[in-house]
Amino acid sequence: MSQILNLFPIPVLKGHIDPPEGLFEAIAEKLEDCHKGKWASETGKSTGELGMNLHQDVPEVSLLIDLMMDTVVEYWDNHLKYAPAQIEPMASWSNWHTYNDFTGEHSHSNGRLGCHIASVYYLQKDEGGDICLCDPLDYLRRLTPLHKDNGDAIISEPVPTRTGDFLLFPGWVRHRTNRATNKRQAISINFNGNLV
Ligand SMILES: [Fe+2]
Repeated sequence: MSQILNLFPIPVLKGHIDPPEGLFEAIAEKLEDCHKGKWASETGKSTGELGMNLHQDVPEVSLLIDLMMDTVVEYWDNHLKYAPAQIEPMASWSNWHTYNDFTGEHSHSNGRLGCHIASVYYLQKDEGGDICLCDPLDYLRRLTPLHKDNGDAIISEPVPTRTGDFLLFPGWVRHRTNRATNKRQAISINFNGNLV
């Protein structure tokens, strides 16, 4: 009898919260002032163009974070096994994709400016345009006789989601999206913790 010991997995949490009342309308109003392709590696619109603090500007986003917070703490403590900390949202923005839009590859960490937990909440999402989380062992795996042709992009796994789903993952994990097949609106929220 043999078994596989999957020794060094990266925990990614998938949860679900039905969109709070008024959130869609509040974000849509912000996006009216934004322009396609104007921010970071987005081909669609992003409120990042206006600032990174939706959680301070939009009460409905603050409510969403309140609803997520128990799960964020559980993820920090029990799955990532980080030291006890006072966890706070440090940045937030919303991206809006229409047909064929995508987000280029990036992470939410940049040395001392990095965040510890990245999250994405899907305010509106049907099939397609999924986030792809990149494998940090890409370089090493390419020195092995992989069966699949992975092309030039960093090896990744798509994570299928629908409206109301959210993901939590370590802020250092690089990620990108597939091209949207429908309208897709997501809120990204970064969390940091002050160790206690
Ligand atoms: Fe991101």
